[in-house]
Amino acid sequence: MASPLMRPEFDEEALLDQIMGVMEAAFPPTFGERWTRAQVSGTIFLPNYSWGLAWRHGEPRTPNEQAAGFYMSRFTYDEEELLLIGVQPIYRRHGLATRLLDDLEHNARERGAKRLLLEMRAGNPAELLYRQRGFQQIGTRKKYYCSADGKRIDALTFACKI
Ligand SMILES: CC(C)(COP(=O)(O)OP(=O)(O)OC[C@H]1O[C@@H](n2cnc3c(N)ncnc32)[C@H](O)[C@@H]1OP(=O)(O)O)[C@@H](O)C(=O)NCCC(=O)NCCS
Repeated sequence: MASPLMRPEFDEEALLDQIMGVMEAAFPPTFGERWTRAQVSGTIFLPNYSWGLAWRHGEPRTPNEQAAGFYMSRFTYDEEELLLIGVQPIYRRHGLATRLLDDLEHNARERGAKRLLLEMRAGNPAELLYRQRGFQQIGTRKKYYCSADGKRIDALTFACKI
């Protein structure tokens, strides 16, 4: 269920600190998926971008508590694209990503989206999470990602009607 607790009032730097805290813990440098602070700050404050945060106890217990998970998305006409979702390793498998995706979906509907889109590195175990929510693969971008050891990895595109 969507909750305003997922988008509390932060100034811009504090929001970037929260997102980057999760980004660095959740995305190993191995696959080139991690965004830099400059990439996040250059997009997230644009009007068609959205975000949500999740805390291990549902809401922050202190004003500076580090979030356990986050997502970022972008709205275009009638579609909402999930750009990134990450949960700190120690808080995984407790339903935080599920809560974040619930928030994304609720938010997307409010903006008039008819479907959700995402792109994922082939072999990412997140595929199970997405398929369970009704996402279906609609395409492949060959050799889209480049891993730290130079291997090229396909990107799989998924969509889900909402
Ligand atoms: C993918 C990710 C966001 C999932 O976060 P999470 O909070 O652990 O997910 P949830 O607890 O909501 O998982 C819900 C269900 O999805 C499935 N699932 C989630 N992660 C899974 C995994 N690694 N392997 C298999 N199934 C998984 C399970 O069915 C799970 O239910 P269960 O724990 O009762 O079995 C997290 O593993 C992560 O941050 N990964 C690294 C970043 C990343 O690759 N993000 C996705 C690409 S942008």
